[in-house]
Amino acid sequence: MHNDIKEVLISEEEIQQKILELGAKLGEDYKDRNPLVICVLKGAFVFMSDLVKRIEVPLEIDFMAVSSYGASTKSSGVVKIIKDLDVSVEGRDVLIVEDIIDSGLTLSYLMEILRGRSAKSVRVVTLFDKPTGRTVELEADYTGFIIPDAFIVGYGLDYAEHYRNLPYIGILKPEIYSN
Ligand code: PRP
Ligand code: MG
Ligand code: MN
Repeated sequence: MHNDIKEVLISEEEIQQKILELGAKLGEDYKDRNPLVICVLKGAFVFMSDLVKRIEVPLEIDFMAVSSYGASTKSSGVVKIIKDLDVSVEGRDVLIVEDIIDSGLTLSYLMEILRGRSAKSVRVVTLFDKPTGRTVELEADYTGFIIPDAFIVGYGLDYAEHYRNLPYIGILKPEIYSN
């Protein structure tokens, strides 16, 4: 285990098992719809990569980079588009892939944008959901794990850009972010 991690909250095996289940469900729901699967960079890149391998129907992928946290542990409330999509979503069944929903600001902003571009449908799959963090009302269509109010890292989730490469979800030692 990484030295900055206090406790492993969700193991690599548990994550991979959940992704198998999510992928199977998504494969049923998106059969014959050629969905455009959108990865919300950077956090969702690890989940995206594992998830699409488990969705056994034709699909296309694209990437969008947004950021609201920067190096802080709290959302700034301002969502910035850093990289936009390469393709049009008009008339497409769009599936947004997120690593975590906390305040809900990132996703509510993204969904507003994509609906404004005349997507046929917009749904969200998130691997983690921290409902205690919500400031705007928002629920994912597909959720992996409900997470307690702790500062978690790993599996794509960062603190100041570190720990994204951990294959599990860990709780960061408080002394790491308190100074
Ligand atoms: C994190 C995370 C989600 C978002 C969730 O991204 O990856 O995208 O925050 O928080 P919210 O529901 O309060 O908006 P971040 O802005 O840190 O950028 P990153 O993905 O590049 O780490
Ligand atoms: Mg993110
Ligand atoms: Mn982040």
